[in-house]
Amino acid sequence: MKNSCYIAGFSYFVPEGVLTNRDLERFVDTNDEWIVSRTGIRQRHVAGGQTCSDLAYEASRTALQRSGLEPGDITHIITATFTPDAYVPNAACVIMEKLGIRGIPAMDINAACTGFVYGIELARGLCQLSSGSRILLVASEVVTSRINFKDRSTSVLFGDGAGACVLTRESPGGGIPAGYIEDVLLRADGSLGPLLTVKGGGSGYPLVLGETVGDDFFVQMEGREVFKHAVRSMRDVSMDILKKNNITADDIDLFIPHQANIRIIEALAKLMHVKEEKIFVNVHEYGNTSAASVPIALADAWEKGRIRPGQLVLMVAFGGGFTWGATLIRF
Ligand code: ACO
Repeated sequence: MKNSCYIAGFSYFVPEGVLTNRDLERFVDTNDEWIVSRTGIRQRHVAGGQTCSDLAYEASRTALQRSGLEPGDITHIITATFTPDAYVPNAACVIMEKLGIRGIPAMDINAACTGFVYGIELARGLCQLSSGSRILLVASEVVTSRINFKDRSTSVLFGDGAGACVLTRESPGGGIPAGYIEDVLLRADGSLGPLLTVKGGGSGYPLVLGETVGDDFFVQMEGREVFKHAVRSMRDVSMDILKKNNITADDIDLFIPHQANIRIIEALAKLMHVKEEKIFVNVHEYGNTSAASVPIALADAWEKGRIRPGQLVLMVAFGGGFTWGATLIRF
């Protein structure tokens, strides 16, 4: 079948440490009421010493078990992250070593919060190149490593975590729950990049030996502008993928949007005329975990019984770059 690709083994892992809004009140000028009313976030998990690859390893192990595969069965590893353990080696190589895998391609992609959806399209392409492809796609972020906890406009928004799955050309069978990737649409617009950045340490903003890092080492964001673009872009790409597939929002059983802010999700739902009960939300528990947000929500929804065989799921994400994208999955 043309473009055949299945997704299975959904799993997520968040570090044990929890930072509540009340905890934040102790070191940044904010309060629980402001954070909840403006974002919906009540707490976030923080890695506290664990790295991107540590979180990815935990999520990946469970994803492999749930897809009935051993690490040695995997043919490619793709990691979506903007917070790898190091620039070199890439996160995928570190993760493969932890999983005990050698000799297969291992690559990172950075599309900020849209990284997982970009990864699905990349995996779909690899499945067409080789019918035996069994791709581990893991999105993992220690966003708090790039958060300035003195900046109240960003420090309340983000959390750490990882989400993983396996993508294969053939249906995994054997009673393993899987979704068929019906379509993926990806977009980007570099002219909007300056609205959301993590610049320090890049070759355009090199660090100097002995000097401390500046504000630009951390996430910097024009919150209001990002908000408007996030709503508009996720609405547009969702409507485009529905139209391309000759369906409407009524045909979708569950919407899984990027978990950045409840007000973004509500605005998106309103524009698309989608009822609250069809939208999966867990931003109150995890905050914005960037690329990990969508796969964490997917695995969480699946574990909570919100996804049943035969259902059609629309996942949509938006992130720095700007990047955005949507995917339709039939379970
Ligand atoms: N606590 C208390 N007050 C605060 C805080 C805080 N943490 N942060 C800002 N404020 C104050 C501001 O200083 C401002 O005060 P002023 O009116 O006296 O100047 C007031 O609250 C309003 O600030 P705004 O920035 O206008 O607040 P807004 O309602 O736009 O909410 C927010 C800010 C939550 C950042 C919102 O704009 C947003 O969610 N934007 C999108 C951010 C996002 O989702 N980014 C990620 C998407 S892409 C990706 O995931 C990488």
